[in-house]
Amino acid sequence: MNILVTGGCGFIGSNFILYWLKRYPNDFVINLDKLTYAGNPQNLSSEENNSHYKFVKGDITDDRLVDELISKVDTVVHFAAESHVDRSISGPSVFVQTNVLGTEILLEKAVKHKVKRFHHISTDEVFGALKTSDTSKFSERTNYNPRSPYSASKAGSDHLVRAFYHTYGLPTTITNCSNNFGPFQHPEKLIPLAITNLLEGKKVPVYGKGNQIRDWLYVEDHCRAIETVLQKGEAGQTYCVGGLTEDILNLEVIKLIIKLLGKSEEEIEFVKDRPGHDEKYSIDWSKIKNELGWKPLHSFEEWLKITVEWYKEHQEWWKKIKNEEWKRYYQRQYDQ
Ligand code: NAD
Ligand code: TYD
Repeated sequence: MNILVTGGCGFIGSNFILYWLKRYPNDFVINLDKLTYAGNPQNLSSEENNSHYKFVKGDITDDRLVDELISKVDTVVHFAAESHVDRSISGPSVFVQTNVLGTEILLEKAVKHKVKRFHHISTDEVFGALKTSDTSKFSERTNYNPRSPYSASKAGSDHLVRAFYHTYGLPTTITNCSNNFGPFQHPEKLIPLAITNLLEGKKVPVYGKGNQIRDWLYVEDHCRAIETVLQKGEAGQTYCVGGLTEDILNLEVIKLIIKLLGKSEEEIEFVKDRPGHDEKYSIDWSKIKNELGWKPLHSFEEWLKITVEWYKEHQEWWKKIKNEEWKRYYQRQYDQ
């Protein structure tokens, strides 16, 4: 396969490229990434001399560049996005630019060059939010009801992907997955933020009372799910992907991390809640399990332990990200 991966220097994209090149060393991967604050080419330093891997710095809204790159591949795996809810609240415009317009440009070029598969990575946040007390879960049949600029822009991109399947016959697939965690995740997100702050002797900021619920998916399980959909998924279909968490509150996640690091619960700091904070996400992944045979490999607790160890062993990696620019972001976000 010749694959164009977009956003391959980000968290999930870089895990996917490393996973793919290890499993399929004869395939070719082109990675198109703009290197925003979230992109880190160091994640792929092991592939620098791999003749089956090529990095191209560029923007998915660059029509000419996208045209040229898509003409060279048969498959597109589209991760590139602005991905952090808090940043979408303080600056929504770039979310529409990259997530909606960027996706549309990729789709147009994919039609033009007749790619065999366009796989779009999306989120469960497009379905809105459940109540903490709800026992129901999001599934492929749930109506869209996004509530943040981030999830609204991802919903827009999902609609475009489906429209290109129906209108132009582009062989698309979509995965809507839950919150990922694991190696190479930017420390702006809850789990790496908690681990790295604790390792630095700093407190962990918890929004509101910490009683929101997320469905946690280990990034390697997610990469395996994308692989499964690329190989066995049906064009035009959507697959929901989630983890093995059972309704765990944010506060309980933090307490687990504190325990794994041998720290004290006094390190928890309750801070101002996020505006429009979605209470709960929970995902029913029975379709991908029953139809394609995918399921997560380990429990949340097992993967969390592995994740905590990774951040302990890769302090140089995240300390470089927690630079002066990060400190300014952190102050704007938390010192209010
Ligand atoms: P990330 O923010 O870590 O990485 C995004 C990457 O895209 C970065 O490398 C960035 O430089 C690149 N990028 C941004 N704008 C670009 C542009 N205009 N052109 C080219 N490259 C650009 O994101 P992530 O956590 O790896 O998420 C990847 C995808 O998965 C996103 O589409 C996101 O919506 C989706 N997703 C993520 C999660 C999660 O928990 N992280 C959950 C569900 C869905
Ligand atoms: P996050 O990792 O930003 O992912 P998302 O908003 O896409 O779910 O946040 C996960 C949960 O953790 C969410 O309920 C918000 C909460 N949270 C905090 O309590 N404190 C923080 O500093 C951050 C970043 C998130």
